[in-house]
Amino acid sequence: MAFPVFWYPFLYKVKVGFLQFAPEFKAPEVNLTRIEEFISSIAADGLVLPELSTTGYAFNSKEELLPFAEPIPGPTTERLTRFATAKGIWLVVGLAERDGDDIYNSSILISKDGKLHKYRKIHLFDREKLIFSPGNLPFQVIDIVEAGLNPAPTRVCTVKIGLLICFDWIFPEAVRTLALKGAQIICHSANLVLPYCQPAMQTRAIENRVFIITANRTGEERSLKFTGNSQVVNPKGEVLLKADAEEECVKVIEIDPAQALDKNVTEYNNVITDRRPEFYL
Ligand code: ACM
Repeated sequence: MAFPVFWYPFLYKVKVGFLQFAPEFKAPEVNLTRIEEFISSIAADGLVLPELSTTGYAFNSKEELLPFAEPIPGPTTERLTRFATAKGIWLVVGLAERDGDDIYNSSILISKDGKLHKYRKIHLFDREKLIFSPGNLPFQVIDIVEAGLNPAPTRVCTVKIGLLICFDWIFPEAVRTLALKGAQIICHSANLVLPYCQPAMQTRAIENRVFIITANRTGEERSLKFTGNSQVVNPKGEVLLKADAEEECVKVIEIDPAQALDKNVTEYNNVITDRRPEFYL
C-alpha cells in the first residue's frame, strides 16, 4: 500500500526488545562478555537490559558494593558504547554508579551514535536504602533519531525514550511524569522479586498510552529469587512479547512508536488532557 509522503513521519517501525538473564554476582567482566555474546547476533534498533546488569543485586552493604561501582562515564560504559556503536543499536543498561562517596542505582541509555544519558533510581526498594543514595536527577526522556525505517527509508524519525528502574513502577507518578514529558517507549530495567509488577505495567501502559519494555533478571542471589517474565506491553496494555520466569533470552518485536502519540481512549476522552489536577492531592 502506498502512503502519501506527508504521512511518512507517522508511519515507521522500530525493532525493540529485552535481554533477560541471570548476572553473575560480583563478576562484571563475565557479565559484560555474556551481554555482548547474547546481543551480538541480534538484529534490533534497541534493547533494554536488567537493573544492575554487570554487578548483580544482593549486596549487603555499601562497603561490599563499592569495589564494583564505577563512575558514569567510566570503563564499563566505554566498553558498552564501543559495542553499541559498532553494532548500530541503542542500549538501556542498569549499572551501579559511583559518584564521590555516593553509589546510585543507575540506568544508562547509549544511543546508536554513542551519546550517553543517565537516570538514577528515584524510588529505592527495601535494603537498597542502606546501600544507594536516592536518585537526584529528573526523570529522563531522550530523543533517539531513527533513520532508514519502513516505509520511508530515506526519512529520519525521532522516538522518545523514557527511563525507569524497577521499584519506580509502584509509583504511578513516575510513568505519568515520563508520559507527560513525551515518552513513547518506557525502558524499565528491573530486578523484580515481588509478583505484582508485570501485570501492573499493563495498567501503567493503558493509563498513559505508552509502550513499556520491562527487562527483568532471572536466577537467585543470597535469599532473593528474581521473577523473570520480562515483557513488552503496547499502549492498549496488550503484552506483545514475554519471556518465562526462568529463561535467559533476547526477544525482539517490531512496534510503531507513533501509536503512543494517540492519547485518546474514546472520541471524548484523552488520558492527558482530561486530567483534573485541581482535584488531585
Ligand atoms: C527492585 O526495585 N529491585 C525490586
